[in-house]
Amino acid sequence: AKARHFKWEVEYMYGAPDCLEHVVMGINGQFPGPTIKARAGDTLVIHLTNKLHTEGVVIHWHGIRQLGTPWADGTASISQCAINPGETFVYRFKVDKAGTYFYHGHYGMQRSAGLYGLLIVDVEEGKKEPFQYDGEFNLLLSDWWHKGVHEQEVDLSANPMRWIGEPQSLLLNGRGQYNCSLAAHNSKGSGLPACKFRGNERCAPNILHVMPNKTYRLRVASTTALASLNLAIGKHKLLMVEADGNYLEPFWVNDFDIYSGETYSVLFHTDQQPTDNYWISVGVRGRKPATPQALAILHYQSTTASKLPTIAPPQTPLWNDYSHSKSFSKKIRARLLGSQNPPPITNHRRIFLLNTQNRIDGYTKWAINNVSLTLPPTPYLGSIKHGFSNAFDQKSPPDSFVNTYDITRPPSNPNSTYGNGVYMLKFNTTIDVILQNANALNANVSEIHPWHLHGHDFWVLGYGEGKFTKKDENKFNLKNPPLRNTVVIFPYGWTALRFMADNPGVWAFHCHIEPHLHMGMGVVFAEGVHLVGKIPDEALSCGLTGKMLRSKTHN
Ligand code: C2O
Ligand code: CU
Repeated sequence: AKARHFKWEVEYMYGAPDCLEHVVMGINGQFPGPTIKARAGDTLVIHLTNKLHTEGVVIHWHGIRQLGTPWADGTASISQCAINPGETFVYRFKVDKAGTYFYHGHYGMQRSAGLYGLLIVDVEEGKKEPFQYDGEFNLLLSDWWHKGVHEQEVDLSANPMRWIGEPQSLLLNGRGQYNCSLAAHNSKGSGLPACKFRGNERCAPNILHVMPNKTYRLRVASTTALASLNLAIGKHKLLMVEADGNYLEPFWVNDFDIYSGETYSVLFHTDQQPTDNYWISVGVRGRKPATPQALAILHYQSTTASKLPTIAPPQTPLWNDYSHSKSFSKKIRARLLGSQNPPPITNHRRIFLLNTQNRIDGYTKWAINNVSLTLPPTPYLGSIKHGFSNAFDQKSPPDSFVNTYDITRPPSNPNSTYGNGVYMLKFNTTIDVILQNANALNANVSEIHPWHLHGHDFWVLGYGEGKFTKKDENKFNLKNPPLRNTVVIFPYGWTALRFMADNPGVWAFHCHIEPHLHMGMGVVFAEGVHLVGKIPDEALSCGLTGKMLRSKTHN
């Protein structure tokens, strides 16, 4: 194992994510940010300098548990103070487990602005993956709006709220093509003109160069702000082998869904006609799409890369074919080897989290058990560790909601409030969370929400329809539930998960849809904070902890 050092500067720059020039957030002049490659057990040391002129920044290492380094989790107001313009913060943490991860901004809506990149962790030197392949590729999925994020933030916070709408483009490794189609010659009726490329454009399509009769690993991560996606490769079957840095009991699919915050590895064999090329297509799920499919090319090296595939791109399943999505999610099982164990068979505490859309004083918000999250000026990790009891609401948010609540109708809960209380979890206990979906403000609308937990992996015990009842426990998978850090709740359904509160720190648990988080869709868990080691001063430099540091140096 070794330490890998990086010097990064975050800045606004011009990019052309979907061929139109726009301002994006970049790192060292690159959009998306550089791909980090490391090995399990390595320590990453990232010196992050904020070159933005007028706003703070932080970077979250999505899927890395930050064992022993909760201050490096990169969540503004939770694990650290945002890094001021001109200042540098050093993220130093261990990547303890091989897998497919990514990183992204976690302040305001900076992720939507393009602050993201891949983080690939290989197995330790000399160790082997439990599957074999001859080569690998990465695809980082995102969605892109032509409206800048500052304007989007104002729109979402306005009264009445102005919804940001569907993205203009889907991006694969930061590249999309607005208002033209790569597959104009063989797409049936997309109606868009053909894109013209000489090949060196910043938004030229991704081409995956493969040899016939080999096995490849494709790592896919989704950091979309909004879109749930589905990926397929024309004519090629996909073997699901890894999710969120944990091995799966392998299973074959023709296509798979991926929600914001999730990662997968799939294997495929290049066993098709080697004189042709094939489309990789990515399309929108769960919302009526206004965004065309994104395309990339699988290029067999026995033919030329410029030969466009003769077979039309695979069509993503219908956006509202939820049974397709559910049957995929329910097929996911853990491969019990290495560090993956079945969950404890009982829990110490069960927390029900009702997801509702609400109006508070005319503002549209998302609320969890009627509380819409607003983050405090002093980050929780520092304020809890140093005992500042006036830094946030000391009353715990509720563990459940009234059981007469009708999830099939628009919310009749006029008492929603803003809040920033914390779920204090007893250290080393087993926690169950039942995420309960409900109807949004408009009748007959219930949306998909991918929930992401910081600092832990959790077992996904099960999914179900309607309101969760005690009987549903009997359906839990306690034998080989997958370990994940992100899981979806389907419209009008529930999802049950279990985790060990065994990582001292303060951890966000939130919907990974950026505008939903912005509108309050999250909660905060804290456990064993007294066991946290010395928090670097740079993480504490704001709010009440900042005051404390300044008064210390004056004495
Ligand atoms: Cu990738 Cu708190 O999120
Ligand atoms: Cu959501």
